[in-house]
Formats: sequence, structure tokens, C-alpha cells
Amino acid sequence: MKIRRLAEGTINRIAAGEVVERPASVVKELVENALDAGARRIEIATSRGGADLILVEDDGEGMEKGDLAIAVERHATSKLPRLGADDDLTSISTLGFRGEALPSIGAVARVAIASRTATGDAQEIRVAGGALDGPSPVGFRAAGQSGTRVEVRELFFATPARLKFLKSARSEDLATLDIIKRLAMSRPDVAFTLTMDGRRALNLESENDLASSSEALGRLRRLSQIMGRDFADNAARVDVARESLSITGFAGLPTYNRANAQMQFLFVNGRPVRDKLLVGAVRGAYADFLARDRHPALALFLDCDPSFVDVNVHPAKTEVRFRDAGLVRGLIVSSLKATLAEAGHRASTTVAGAALAALRPQANTTFYQQDYSHRPGVNDPGRSFYAPLLPADTAPAARIEEPSAQTSHDLPLGVARAQLHETYVVAQTQDGIVIVDQHAAHERLVYERMKKALENGGVVRQPLLIPEVVELDPAEVTRVTSRAAELAELGLIIEPFGPDAVMVREMPAMLGKADIKALVRDLADDIAETGKALSLKERLEEVAGTLACHTSVRAGRRLNAEEMNALLREMEATPHSGQCNHGRPTYVELKLADIERLFGRR
Ligand SMILES: Nc1ncnc2c1ncn2[C@@H]1O[C@H](COP(=O)(O)OP(=O)(O)O)[C@@H](O)[C@H]1O
Ligand SMILES: [Mg+2]
Repeated sequence: MKIRRLAEGTINRIAAGEVVERPASVVKELVENALDAGARRIEIATSRGGADLILVEDDGEGMEKGDLAIAVERHATSKLPRLGADDDLTSISTLGFRGEALPSIGAVARVAIASRTATGDAQEIRVAGGALDGPSPVGFRAAGQSGTRVEVRELFFATPARLKFLKSARSEDLATLDIIKRLAMSRPDVAFTLTMDGRRALNLESENDLASSSEALGRLRRLSQIMGRDFADNAARVDVARESLSITGFAGLPTYNRANAQMQFLFVNGRPVRDKLLVGAVRGAYADFLARDRHPALALFLDCDPSFVDVNVHPAKTEVRFRDAGLVRGLIVSSLKATLAEAGHRASTTVAGAALAALRPQANTTFYQQDYSHRPGVNDPGRSFYAPLLPADTAPAARIEEPSAQTSHDLPLGVARAQLHETYVVAQTQDGIVIVDQHAAHERLVYERMKKALENGGVVRQPLLIPEVVELDPAEVTRVTSRAAELAELGLIIEPFGPDAVMVREMPAMLGKADIKALVRDLADDIAETGKALSLKERLEEVAGTLACHTSVRAGRRLNAEEMNALLREMEATPHSGQCNHGRPTYVELKLADIERLFGRR
């Protein structure tokens, strides 16, 4: 015989290699246990990145003396429902279920677990490198106050190889913080504190303690404590359900975009996960509104019947597998798109905030020291507000002297009052000012119109009196003409014209007068970048974006009052008009209160 069974300690150390990859994974397992035990408050402390000490104390249901000893045995769990003589892996509703964490941690560190149930007395067991000591009575919490405290010291002392590969304390701290944040986002009802080397790193009150706070509000408060206060102002609520699947949470407006995907948090049945399917779906939903290198911020909570999802993919349980991945992907994409459409033309408030910050004069400039008393006041009713303020050498704004018959009531984007620099439309709303970038806004409107026309079977074309020949290099000619059928659907009729040119015969009518040469060259560039993997519809939508970029209402065109107001009304009626195709805002709104602050009136 040369085959023998491994010693229990060896088995646990091997298992520990997967479950306890680093200090942060110990924290994760312990906090998950606390949540599974029904804790309302969890206190976490680490020192030296968790290598010296990890301490997690909760006020959950606690463990009886007998359970305490079994808890550190391998594959021992209280969480899997029985299925006849078997265990039921198909309906897991807890974060843990594998019964591996405590024995794994006990195999590689010195662990002390003190626990008390509501009716029992406090007991403690100690495990060091797999060797058990206890349970024995200990002073821990008062009678009737259930809870558990797990103390992990000298992590990996029993596995020196792993110890050598520990990263710096700082990077372990960051990983721990990240894990606690994710768990805290999924459970706003639970209070969390995190202390690192004696410093308070996180202090989150339970959002259920706030009287009158609805569940969604509590969730949003918790999210913005973690994702930043701006998030609440720049996020739209997601709340949809289909079959046994529901998606709730908050999606950041496209204008509130980020350089990476780190502000994307996804949860499946309360479990923080990193899942490619989810990440891809989010990307797809925002593709229309964001440049490829920008990412939205969001937190989505997917809830479904436990049998619909397999969390038993990896020991760390951060990956999941869905029984119907298509349904999940479809629901994420459609719910996000619907949410963004509903958020409509709302642009991010941080845009206005940043604009205000830039405008706000420095206290020590001469600006404030000038005497403005001769100027008409903003609140001076009978007088025109802008004209006298314009320096004489500036081109006058296109001005509407009489307040138009329309009032700003019920018009979110207000009534157009002026066009400045032939680029910006300034409108007055009930309680503020809206400044519209007319080119960006128009580009968005044309894009949305094109998409609608596409859905309804094609874009109206207008033949050119004289076909336009556009020179390109031969590779570009091939690329553009290979997509001629799609372009035709979008109203652009292009054919090859020799080896290094194409001829444009018809244009989308809605583009008006466009620079055809520039348009076709841009198309050639965009088509080069487009991956083959995109569906026909996605490819069409992408080309539509390029076409929309070349519309007639460019910056620099003077608009009359009707045109300006028509633009505002169409923006209000059009989904997604708050940002251009590249995630930049199409308008900013400054509230009167902000403007008053700007002038030191408040
Ligand atoms: N903080 C805690 N409070 C109450 N019981 C706990 C706590 N931590 C662990 N336990 C008990 O110990 C068992 C083993 O824990 P663990 O090894 O993490 O496996 P799992 O969580 O997968 O069940 C759990 O099933 C639970 O009954
Ligand atoms: Mg566990």
C-alpha cells in the first residue's frame, strides 16, 4: 500500500489555502458568519493589516457549548437544510454553507472564539494550528446578551510559505475595507464599525434606526456613505421584477461617470459578487451614453429564488452561476435602460457643482471690490437683466426682450431667454437657470430620433443634387462599403468610387446640411474601431452616434426664440437628453439658491 489518508490538519491547511487567501478573506468569512447569526451590530478590528490580529464581535444568536466545539470541525455547518438523508444545496439563503471557514482559519492561525446564547452562559474555545482547547467558561457579555467574538492572531504562523507572500499592511487594509464596504452595502440594517491599528476606518449606524426612513431611503443613505455623498444626488432608483427575479438599487447617471469600474457593486441574494455576466450587462446598458473608457457608478441588488442561482462555484463564493443567464442579463440591461430613460434629461448635479466652484470668485480678487450698485438688480422686475450687463465690445446676445407668453411653470428646462456665443442657450426655470450646450443637445436628439426611426423601419433619406465624392485610403473604402447596407438603413447611400474614394448619393434628411466629407471620414474611423462582436443593432446604433455628431445645429449657429424653445421642449420629451453620446452633459442647471450664494446673498 502506498496510498494513505492525509492527516486532518493537513487537509484543513490545504482547504485553508483556498478559503483563507489573505487577511481580508478571514475578515470576510467572520463577518459573513456574524450576519448569518442575525447580528444587528458588528465590530471589526485589525492590526498590522490583519497579520497580527483580526477581531470580529457580533450580537447575533451565539453558539451553545456543544456547538462551539463542532463549529471548528471541517464540513460542520448549521446552515444547510436537510433533504431526507442528504443536504439541500439548491436553496441556500445564508452567506455561509460550506462549513470550512472556522476550521481553515484554525488550521493556519491562533484562534479564540467566545460565544454566548440568549439563555446560556459564555464559553470559549481556542484553536492553534489545528489543535483544540476547550470549551471552557469565559467572561464575555452579560447574561441574556447573546453574541460571538472571534479573535484571530498570528495568521499563517502555521504556513510560513503563505506568510512570506503577505502583501503590505496597507494593501491588506484596503482589501479588508473593500470587503466590509461591500457587505455593509448589502445590509444597511446592520451597524458596522471597523478599526485599523486603533484608528476608526468606518462607522456605519444601522439605517433602520432612523425613524420614518423607507427601505430604499435607508439603502441610499448607506450607499452614499460608502460611495460618496455625491452618489445620492446623481443616482436613479432601479426597481423591477420579472418572473421570480427582481433587481433593485441605484444607478448613477451617465454624467456621473468614472475612469474605472470600481464604483460598480453587484449583489446576488445579498451576497457581494464579481460576475462577468453582470459586468458585461452593465456595460451594454450604458454603452449608448458613455465613451468606451468611462464607467458608471452603481449598486444593483439582484434577488431571486435560491434555486435559480448556484453560489457553489468557488470556495470564496464571490462567483455565481445562473440557471437562466440570458434572463438575468436581459433584465439588468432593460431595467437600467428604463431607469436611465426615466431619469430623462436629468444631468448630474456635480456638473452644476463644479461649474459653481469654477465661477465662485476668489475672496481676495478685485471682483468683489468693484461697485456694482449702478447695475440693475437681478430681482428688478421691469428691466431686462442681461443687456445692460454686457460690456459694449461684446457681440450682443440674441435676446428676447419681452418675457414670452410661456411661463416657466411645469417646464423643467424653462423658457429660453438668450443665446450666448452662438453656442449656449440660456433658459429661465421656475427656480433657476438652465444653460444648454446646443450642439451637444442637438446631437443627442438626432441620435435618439435615428434610433426611433430605425426601430420603425428606417430613416428618411434625401438625395443629393450632386453626389459627393469622398477620398479615403483603400482600406477605409473597403471598411465603409462593407457596411453599406447598415448605412443605407440609416439613410446614407454610399457606393465605392474607384479604389480610393466613395460616392455619397443620399443623406439622412434629419441631418440637414452636413459636412459630408468629414462625416464619411469619421465613419471610416469609427467602423475601424468597432469590434466584430457587436450585434447588427449595436453596430447601427454606434454609426447613428457618428451621424448625429454631424448635424446642422452645430455650435456657432444662431437660433431664434422658437428654435431655442423647440430645442428645450424636445429635450424634455426625449429620453437620455441630459447627456450627449459621450457622457458629457448637454445642459447644466443652476438653482437660484446657488446663484444667490455665488453673490454672497446667502
Ligand atoms: N459569529 C457566529 N455566531 C453564531 N454562530 C457562528 C458564528 N460563526 C460561526 N458560527 C457557527 O459555526 C458554524 C461553522 O462556521 P463556518 O466554518 O464559517 O461554516 P459555515 O458558515 O459555512 O457554516 C456555522 O454554521 C455556525 O453555526
Ligand atoms: Mg461561514
